Amino acid sequence: MIVGVPKEAFPGERRVALVPVVVPSLTKAGFQVVVEAGAGASAGYGDADFVEKGAKLAATRAEVFLSADIIVQVLSHGSNDVTGKEDLPLFRRGQAIIGFLRPFGSSGVVQELAATGVTSFSVELMPRITRAQSMDALSSMATIAGYKAVLLAADRLPRMFPMLTTAAGTITPARVFIIGAGVAGLQAISTARRLGAVASAYDMRPAAKEQVQSLGGRFVELPIEAQDAQDARGYARQQEETFFQRQRELLGRVVAESDVVITAAMVPGKKPPLLITREMVQSMAPGSVIVDLASERGGNCELTQAGQRVVEYNVTIIGYINLASTVPYHASQMYARNLTAFLLHLGKEGKLQLDLEDEITRETLLTRDGEVVNARVREFFSLPALAAPKS
Ligand SMILES: NC(=O)c1ccc[n+]([C@@H]2O[C@H](COP(=O)([O-])OP(=O)(O)OC[C@H]3O[C@@H](n4cnc5c(N)ncnc54)[C@H](O)[C@@H]3O)[C@@H](O)[C@H]2O)c1
Repeated sequence: MIVGVPKEAFPGERRVALVPVVVPSLTKAGFQVVVEAGAGASAGYGDADFVEKGAKLAATRAEVFLSADIIVQVLSHGSNDVTGKEDLPLFRRGQAIIGFLRPFGSSGVVQELAATGVTSFSVELMPRITRAQSMDALSSMATIAGYKAVLLAADRLPRMFPMLTTAAGTITPARVFIIGAGVAGLQAISTARRLGAVASAYDMRPAAKEQVQSLGGRFVELPIEAQDAQDARGYARQQEETFFQRQRELLGRVVAESDVVITAAMVPGKKPPLLITREMVQSMAPGSVIVDLASERGGNCELTQAGQRVVEYNVTIIGYINLASTVPYHASQMYARNLTAFLLHLGKEGKLQLDLEDEITRETLLTRDGEVVNARVREFFSLPALAAPKS
């Protein structure tokens, strides 16, 4: 089985799906790796490094698609909503693809992918079970986004983060408030603390409290309780608008007293909750910074503009998307390790063995033989249930 790594095509994307260090584990398991020339360059991985570890180079993108049985990508058609479509004619029936496919994005796009006949696996659908932790690309990318969000805020803030006692007096530490203590939010807490800030966080899932505290953050308790806050997979559940309204009222004071607010509150498949209103931005001290990690899907802050940095009422609001791509070396390394673990799980003796009894395989499989076969995705888009699962 040949695993093909095309160069990422989304404008500005700097990551690559595999890195040289993982190649030997794949070849040892019976896979061959073919990399498009230059695919790793913007992440800091040269062609010669891939070759040295046993990969072959392909001169063109078309050659990678033609020779590979499995295509691995970071942003595939779906999550690459700019140039991803151009790959559709290159896919072959029965070829496997693995990548970020944005399975809950658009029914039309998912069906377009199905129509090519590819066997596609969406890394976003990886179940959050202990056995799949090493394959969890969403967590890897969220870790990087949480880290980078703090650096962006620190760079923009007209204050320093740490407390300093100097001959010129004492500098008070920055107050960083994080809303949404999932993977990204927890990494933001750690990073802010390492830079010396006072970090506090809020999440509507009560389970987050202990995690925030274990990282040295203060957990902000609000006198409001979410209904069934968490689902079986550990994700937050959608709430009524009245709940969000009450949250905004209660969060107002904490936001106003913070120098930096990082928002990372999300509910899978839903528009992120609006937690910071225009009035709340207005209440912040001049120079304060908001980094909205939910920006791509609509944002947690009313004034966020996806992909942009704007200044409103003297407050900088950063809505950059795809932050993991701005740390491409480690983002690619983490992603490559996740994919390698996944490939080793799917493939035995260099062959893909699709065991649909297996939760990891079944949950991540999105399309096969011309159909959208994922039950969750079919339900989400109200597609009629398939007659019998194909094995
Ligand atoms: N393998 C595993 O077991 C595994 C792997 C990764 C994550 N997890 C767990 O899954 C959970 C969510 O992970 P994620 O970061 O991908 O989630 P996410 O990106 O979907 O959401 C981020 C956070 O936003 C919070 N949130 C949503 N709406 C909110 C609101 N209105 N107000 C405040 N907070 C709100 C959620 O509770 C979540 O903690 C965490 O508990 C994490 O520890 C488990």
